Amino acid sequence: MEVESMRDYNQYIAELNKAEDPLIAEMEQIALAQKIPIMDRSGIDTFIGLLRIQRPNAILEIGSAIGYSAIRMASALRDAFVTTIERDTDRYNMAVEFISRSTVSEHIRIIEGDALLIEEKQLPDMEYDALFIDAAKGQYKKFFEKYAVLVKQGGIVYCDNMFMHGSVLLPDEELPKRNRTMIRNLKEFTKWIMTHPNYETTLLPVGDGILIAIKK
Ligand SMILES: C[S@@+](CC[C@H](N)C(=O)[O-])C[C@H]1O[C@@H](n2cnc3c(N)ncnc32)[C@H](O)[C@@H]1O
Repeated sequence: MEVESMRDYNQYIAELNKAEDPLIAEMEQIALAQKIPIMDRSGIDTFIGLLRIQRPNAILEIGSAIGYSAIRMASALRDAFVTTIERDTDRYNMAVEFISRSTVSEHIRIIEGDALLIEEKQLPDMEYDALFIDAAKGQYKKFFEKYAVLVKQGGIVYCDNMFMHGSVLLPDEELPKRNRTMIRNLKEFTKWIMTHPNYETTLLPVGDGILIAIKK
């Protein structure tokens, strides 16, 4: 019953937030048709709300896919500059195309490459107000260790898919073999960051689970 009502509320909010921008609507349709994992509506709408409160100027995103969240972030925060990294060439090319068609192309820089391999000097900024981790779920700790050092004191690290579509609730022995290591890694990262002495961390039960870690 409770799950049913949450679904209803999400639907209700999604209707209220219906994408006015035809480019955003087109991206949502393409992602759905081609099974490209972009942030879901309740997740992205909440995330944008959090960013509006935080008002970051420099944002670093790990995992652009087709540029959906980067365009949503840059459109919502007109003073912000978003740097985003994507390793999949097809998705990178689609993102470049969508970003060039958006009204915020001057506010986004997309870098093609594996975020765990690229060098810091490839990044346009030395420091970031916000870091958004939304790439390979089994590698969150590695992304965090590499990039959270670039987040300013008082800045925020956001992570999406902390629930892995419900998989984090399964007992270890019931984890699907294919995703076992990834889910174990994600759960380990979650425990680690929730008790990290240098961060104030909250896990929000919206979308697929959004983690917010404020750097002390
Ligand atoms: C969930 S999607 C990102 C969705 C996007 N943030 C959005 O909501 O519009 C994750 C993306 O991360 C990319 N990715 C995974 N591991 C990566 C890595 N090590 N470096 C760069 N990109 C990576 C994948 O290719 C995939 O396109």
